[in-house]
Amino acid sequence: MDRLQCRVGGLELKNPLIAAAGEHMIDASGVERAIRAGAGAVVMKSTNESQAAKDQLLRAEYMAFGPDWRPAVWGADAPADVTLASRSGLAPQSFDQWLSQVIVLDRIAREHDCLLIASLILADLDQAEGLARQVEQAGLRALEFNIGTPYASQAVKGAVSTELLPERVREIVARIRATVSIPLGIKLTGQSERVPELAEAAFDSGADNVVMAGRLLGFVPDIETLDPFLGTSLAVGGYWNLPLTCQWLALTRARVGPEASLVGINGAQSGLDIARMLLSGASAVGMASAVMLRGYEVITRSLADLDNWLAEKGLTATQAVGISADRRKSFAEMPLIGEHWRNFVPA
Ligand SMILES: Cc1cc2nc3c(=O)[nH]c(=O)nc-3n(C[C@H](O)[C@H](O)[C@H](O)COP(=O)(O)O)c2cc1C
Repeated sequence: MDRLQCRVGGLELKNPLIAAAGEHMIDASGVERAIRAGAGAVVMKSTNESQAAKDQLLRAEYMAFGPDWRPAVWGADAPADVTLASRSGLAPQSFDQWLSQVIVLDRIAREHDCLLIASLILADLDQAEGLARQVEQAGLRALEFNIGTPYASQAVKGAVSTELLPERVREIVARIRATVSIPLGIKLTGQSERVPELAEAAFDSGADNVVMAGRLLGFVPDIETLDPFLGTSLAVGGYWNLPLTCQWLALTRARVGPEASLVGINGAQSGLDIARMLLSGASAVGMASAVMLRGYEVITRSLADLDNWLAEKGLTATQAVGISADRRKSFAEMPLIGEHWRNFVPA
């Protein structure tokens, strides 16, 4: 399976599938299953110093919607076109307990040639520096710092962050970069029209890779009860987010150049979706909710499908990166095709 090997910000991965953070990455058993399923990297459920962020997990709710915006079954049998909605919280353990668990899991990951990534979410920057330092001192190999959770506007003030300004990103990343020397990934919000600028700011300040992009917030009324589903605004995601992620990847690649390592996340459900994100400029691709909803077999199946596709195209994962993005043209470069538009309106 050598053709699956890839490089992300100076790190070699055995394949580009990153089993990304979610509730299925809280218990050690879940992380271990993702490792054993063959993921190239696994991101632990995030933590920070905020008790409010931990408490939020005990208020958390999740649901799947069908395309009619009615509840759909949760589980492996959910239809492919579900939208997932949640209001989540952070890892429930104390930071010390979380770190001890990550250290044990890192050993298991190493035995499987898998990269275990510790994940922190920004609350207070001074505190984040301290936590990041402890992650490095514990011997962990990589840190992901999420500065773009969907929930900052909804959660208790100071629990999590949604950073929207390039100047702020520059400052935050510079501080964490000065604190740790292990590879540093910055996870950005998707709730911005400036994702490429935010990514550029992160790279300028020393990020090794940038993960794009976080989920959006949505609001769905229940047509029966007239209440909002789950009582509030929700982070939403699903297969339909893939074009948006691919667009951010392609635009960011155009802005920061092909050498900068991008990680695509938000909307990947399958091996071919991973291929789509690689073609758009991702060096690796995160998958969270598809695995949380359908189980760890999604990882194994996606890797087999990606490998088949690469073999069929005569490509390695590395060679696939950015091919479609680099063929992207402007509207003005498209040929004139007359009244072709008439074929697309009702007769
Ligand atoms: C229930 C749930 C919990 C999540 N928890 C975290 C988290 O702790 N840290 C984090 O960085 N991202 C977290 N995420 C975001 C995912 O890692 C991912 O960025 C997002 O779900 C989009 O990717 P997907 O379409 O593969 O799910 C969570 C997502 C979900 C659905």
